Amino acid sequence: MGNTFGRLFRVTTFGESHGGGVGVVIDGCPPNIELSEVDIQYELDRRRPAQSKVTTERKEKDRCEILSGLFEGKTLGTPIAIQVRNKDARPEDYVEIAEKFRPSHADFTYEAKYGIRNWQGGGRASARETIGRVAAGAVAKKILSALYSKFAVVAYVAQIHDVVAKINRSTVKGSDVEKNIVRCPDPAAAKKMVARIEQVRDQGDSVGGVIECVVRGIPPGIGEPVFDKLEADLAKAMLSIPATKGFEIGSGFSATRLRGSQHNDPFEMRGGKIRAATNNSGGVQGGISNGEEIYFRVAFKPTATIAHEQQTVTSLHQRTRLAARGRHDPCVLPRAVPIVEAMAALVLGDHALRQRAIDGRSQ
Ligand SMILES: Cc1cc2nc3c(=O)[nH]c(=O)nc-3n(C[C@H](O)[C@H](O)[C@H](O)COP(=O)(O)O)c2cc1C
Repeated sequence: MGNTFGRLFRVTTFGESHGGGVGVVIDGCPPNIELSEVDIQYELDRRRPAQSKVTTERKEKDRCEILSGLFEGKTLGTPIAIQVRNKDARPEDYVEIAEKFRPSHADFTYEAKYGIRNWQGGGRASARETIGRVAAGAVAKKILSALYSKFAVVAYVAQIHDVVAKINRSTVKGSDVEKNIVRCPDPAAAKKMVARIEQVRDQGDSVGGVIECVVRGIPPGIGEPVFDKLEADLAKAMLSIPATKGFEIGSGFSATRLRGSQHNDPFEMRGGKIRAATNNSGGVQGGISNGEEIYFRVAFKPTATIAHEQQTVTSLHQRTRLAARGRHDPCVLPRAVPIVEAMAALVLGDHALRQRAIDGRSQ
C-alpha cells in the first residue's frame, strides 16, 4: 500500500477529510531530539484552512497532539504518533458528489480502485491528509538542523497563473515568504497574485501555479544511487502532493535549450573546498548532493472543485452537469508552501540518517 514514505525515517499518514481526524506515525526518529507540539503547530498553522481571504473557509484550528514517542520534551527513539481531530466537517455539502464524479478530482479513480469511497470532503484524497506530512516534516527539520548547522529549507510561490515573481533564490528567507498571504516574497507580484485569485474565485473558477524550493546547508555526499537518487526521491515526494503536475530540479526543462559548454557547472576551489562555480545541476549530481543549494520547482494545477458548471457523469453512467458546492481553495499554492518544505525535509532527513548509518565520519 502507498501510505508510508521513507526508508530509515519512515512516516505513515492516516485519516480522511470528514473522519475522526488525521495524523501520522513516525518510525525511525533518533532519540534525544528536543521536540514539542509548538514546533509542529507553527508549521500546521501555515498549512491550515481559513488562514486568509484567498484560502478555503473551512474553519479548522488543526491543533496537534503528540500521543507517543516523547518524554520530558525529548524524542525517545520510539514511534511518534501525532494526531489532529477534524472539527468543522460539513458532509451535506458533498451529497451531490456522492453520485456525480467531480472532473479532475479523485472521485472516479477512488471508486474504480476500491469500489467504495468516503465522498465526504474528498475522503483520503483531501489535502487534509497532508497534515500528517507537515507534522512529520517539522520533526525532520529538527533532525536536519541538529545534523547540519547551516540547514535551511525555504519554499515560496514563484508563479500564480501567468503572474510571475522576481525572486533572488540565494538570498530569500522564510520570513520574506510569510510577509503576505500568497507566500510570494516579491511584494509587487504578490499583490497581483492576490487580485488574480480573488478574480477567478468570484467567477466560480480556480488557478494553479509554481512553487520553488531551495535547501541550504546540505553537505556533499547525500543521496542513494541508483533508485533512490536524491532528485528521484524529491520528484516522488513532490508529485505525491495533491494537485501537482510537474517537477524540475536545477535547470530542469530549460537545460534542453543549452549546449554542454553552457550548461556544465565548472568546479573551482573556494574557501578551501571544492565548489561549483554555477549551479545548473540544482545541487545534485549522480543522485548525490554536491554541497551547493538544492533547488527545484513544482507545478500545481488549478483546483479541481469549482462552482463553474461542468459536464460530468454519475456513478450510474448518466450524463449530467455539476456546479460544485462547499468550501474550496480557489488556488492551493499559498497553503501548499509548507507542504513542499515538509516533503523536502522528509526526503533529506531520511537520506541524512541513511548517510549517517553507512558513513562513520559524519557521526
Ligand atoms: C493545500 C491544498 C489544498 C487543496 N484544496 C483543494 C480544494 O479545496 N478543493 C479541491 O478540489 N482540491 C483541493 N486540493 C487538491 C486535491 O486534493 C487534488 O486535486 C485531488 O486529491 C486529486 O488529486 P490530483 O490532483 O493529485 O490528481 C488541494 C491540494 C492542496 C495541496
